[in-house]
Amino acid sequence: MHADNWYILGAGSIGCLWAASLCHKGESPRLILRESSYQQFGQKRIPLKLSTPGQTSLFDVDIVSPETIDNPINRLIVCTKAQDSLAALNSVKPHLTDNCQILLLQNGMGSQQIIRDALPTQTVWAGSSTDGAYLSSPFEVHHAGQGQTWIGSLRNGQGSEQGFNDLSDHFRLKVIQCNTIEQKLWEKLAINSCINGLTALFNCRNGELLDNGEKQAWLDELIAETCSVLAALEIRATSLKEKVHGVCQTTASNISSTCQDARKGRVTELSFINGFLIKQANILGVSVSSHNRLMDQLSAAGIR
Ligand SMILES: NC(=O)c1ccc[n+]([C@@H]2O[C@H](COP(=O)([O-])OP(=O)(O)OC[C@H]3O[C@@H](n4cnc5c(N)ncnc54)[C@H](OP(=O)(O)O)[C@@H]3O)[C@@H](O)[C@H]2O)c1
Repeated sequence: MHADNWYILGAGSIGCLWAASLCHKGESPRLILRESSYQQFGQKRIPLKLSTPGQTSLFDVDIVSPETIDNPINRLIVCTKAQDSLAALNSVKPHLTDNCQILLLQNGMGSQQIIRDALPTQTVWAGSSTDGAYLSSPFEVHHAGQGQTWIGSLRNGQGSEQGFNDLSDHFRLKVIQCNTIEQKLWEKLAINSCINGLTALFNCRNGELLDNGEKQAWLDELIAETCSVLAALEIRATSLKEKVHGVCQTTASNISSTCQDARKGRVTELSFINGFLIKQANILGVSVSSHNRLMDQLSAAGIR
């Protein structure tokens, strides 16, 4: 497979992190921007800066737009927010080869399954990541938290032979192949569905949810309901309460991405987190009144 065939859709924090990490591995990924963003940049080869605590690296990367892609895409990593991924993918669909390998790195669930069903011939993978990254300005990415990314095919029996196997080797990000990616996505969704929306509603840091008062009581109700949904789905999820409280403690001073989006008046990914959980609960007939109350109050506060 030709090295130039790595394309990354979305030049935000995760897109720039993966592009820089692929450059570090010796690949030549191209970053796909929206047409309107692409037009803002005079040069079409940009310096991409990757900072980690104590080290900064610089790489030259080609940027393209859906209009200027001039090679068939056979490996694509989608790095938009969940609510943007289908539209972004549709903008490059004419360029995808029939056997294109597509890796979706969105948080939450629902968007991956929609894309898998919309692309019957391509192999669609999903990833669940604990890496932390942010942009200080366009194309200047900070890898603030070294985590790991589990990746696996969303279609049974596909993707085991090729695809993204080379990402497990000589790659600065820790990528682990996983046969149970939906389980991994659920595990992360379960934790996020308890923490993120509440931090946005109360405009607080993760640790402030453990207040031995109103916030914590609501947090514990969300945890109990999430456990009931997972049990009804027969998804293994042991000690969710310990895990959620543990995350609140170890990331006590962090402002969740959802809270940050709400502060900036941006659309959050909650419809792919709590929204997805509520949809599954309704199908199964499991009561999730605390999750519904949370979504109603967020909506009343203008947080979508
Ligand atoms: N950042 C992290 O630490 C982290 C960690 C784990 C998981 N994740 C997940 O990774 C995903 C991406 O997060 P992020 O933090 O990288 O978000 P982000 O910084 O907001 O980046 C998303 C990028 O996608 C671009 N985009 C949206 N629609 C597009 C389109 N049609 N064509 C081309 N580009 C498009 C956006 O451009 P515009 O600005 O023009 O809209 C933006 O540059 C999310 O699901 C997030 O939950 C993030």
